[in-house]
Amino acid sequence: MSAGEQQRGVGIQAILDRRSVRDFTPEPVREAELEQLVRAGMAAPTAKNMQPWAFVVVTGREMLDRLAEGLPYGKMLGKAPAAIVVCTRPELANNGSLELAVVDATCAAENILLAAHALGLGSVWVASYPYEERMAHVGGVLGIPGEVIPLCVLPVGRPAAVKPPIDKYKSERIHRERW
Ligand SMILES: Cc1cc2nc3c(=O)[nH]c(=O)nc-3n(C[C@H](O)[C@H](O)[C@H](O)COP(=O)(O)O)c2cc1C
Repeated sequence: MSAGEQQRGVGIQAILDRRSVRDFTPEPVREAELEQLVRAGMAAPTAKNMQPWAFVVVTGREMLDRLAEGLPYGKMLGKAPAAIVVCTRPELANNGSLELAVVDATCAAENILLAAHALGLGSVWVASYPYEERMAHVGGVLGIPGEVIPLCVLPVGRPAAVKPPIDKYKSERIHRERW
C-alpha cells in the first residue's frame, strides 16, 4: 500500500468511527490542536469559494460555563476544556444567501468534528441556529455582531470514554440510476 493510500485509509476510518462526544477529561486542549481544528474547518468546500464563516475559540472556564447556561442541550460545555463556535456571515456568502451561508459553515463544522476525532479529541454539534433564543444567548455571551450567525458550538476535549462506532449504512436509502 502506498503512503497516499495509507493516509486515505486513515481518513475514511476517522469518518466511519466518529461519534458525538459529550464527556471529557479535564486535560486542556493545546493551542496547536485548536489551530489544526480551525484549519480543518477552513479547508471545507463553500459555494463559489466564498468562505463566509468566522470562528470563536473559547478556552476560558467562565465563558464555557456561561455558554452552557443558555443551551438546553449543551450542558457538556460545563466539562469541556475548550469550544469552537462556528459562525456564518450571510453577507459574505454567494448572492448574500442565508441558505448558502448555513450550508457552507456546516461543511466547516463537520470538518472540525472529523478532525477532532482524527486527532484523538472529541466533540459534538451543539445547536444554536436556527433557534432564536440560543443564537441570542451565544451571540450575547461572546459579543458576536448582529449580522453574524452563531451556527453551532463545538465543545472540544479528550474523550472520557471510547464510544464504539455506529453503522448507519442503510441500503434502502440509496437509489441507483433513478429513484
Ligand atoms: C444540526 C445538529 C444539531 C445537533 N444538536 C445537538 C445538541 O444541541 N446537543 C447534542 O448533544 N447533540 C446535538 N447533535 C448531535 C446529534 O445528537 C448526533 O450527531 C446524533 O445523535 C448521532 O450521533 P453521532 O454523532 O455519535 O453519530 C446535533 C447534531 C446536528 C447535526
